[in-house]
Amino acid sequence: MIRILVCEDYAEVSRRAADIVAAQLSGKPDSVLGFATGSTPEGMYAELARDCGEGRISFARACTFNLDEYYPISSDAPCSYRRYMEENLFSRIDIDPANTHLPNGLAEDPEAEGKHYDEMIAAAGGIDLQVLGVGRNGHIGFNEPDEVLILGTHCTKLTPSTISANSRFFASEDEVPKRAMTMGLGTIFGAKHIILLATGAEKAEPISHLLAGELRTDCPVSLLNLHPDVLLIADRAAMGE
Ligand code: GLP
Repeated sequence: MIRILVCEDYAEVSRRAADIVAAQLSGKPDSVLGFATGSTPEGMYAELARDCGEGRISFARACTFNLDEYYPISSDAPCSYRRYMEENLFSRIDIDPANTHLPNGLAEDPEAEGKHYDEMIAAAGGIDLQVLGVGRNGHIGFNEPDEVLILGTHCTKLTPSTISANSRFFASEDEVPKRAMTMGLGTIFGAKHIILLATGAEKAEPISHLLAGELRTDCPVSLLNLHPDVLLIADRAAMGE
């Protein structure tokens, strides 16, 4: 079921999302958190870093699994999602680096890496709270619009529209990796709670499919209608207002 929290602006979306992560950590200090990248959660990470710095929350016993990583990419490449997480969050909080996980962007055998990633999540007890953003084309993680979607963590081809949207983080579009490792829909749906962050008018179309109760493989975010506990935190533009 989708619950909706409409916020006035990006700052409020970031604060509300951080409050939910903070409440999860207060209730269960050893929570397993699923994290996302992209521009949208940057404000939430800044709020969480501040909360942690000021002693309101602690990640000391928490463990994290990110949704995805480009493939191939080395973890210290400037545009890797590992680097993004280090810069936006991990280096700014009290988490044990050994408890932070992203798919290995240099795995020799991506299929085995996907299986291993899902096994690690299961061994950690499953994801308690998954933070999600949404691509302009409706992707979640890097589960791109397609006729066939995949259950487990896997290596996937990025669509031209995602390569173009994400090229803003790279020196040029040519440098965007053409593939990525991503949690599959089953991995994401295994999370007990999900918060979906959406800001800006370019997210209004995928969000409209979700809110219309549609189940479209050409708009993977709409499938969240099947999850029992999703909170959409959106600004008015993403709500199409
Ligand atoms: C990327 C990530 C997604 C993210 C999406 C939206 O492609 N793989 O997890 O949700 O982009 O990004 P942004 O928040 O920058 O719009």
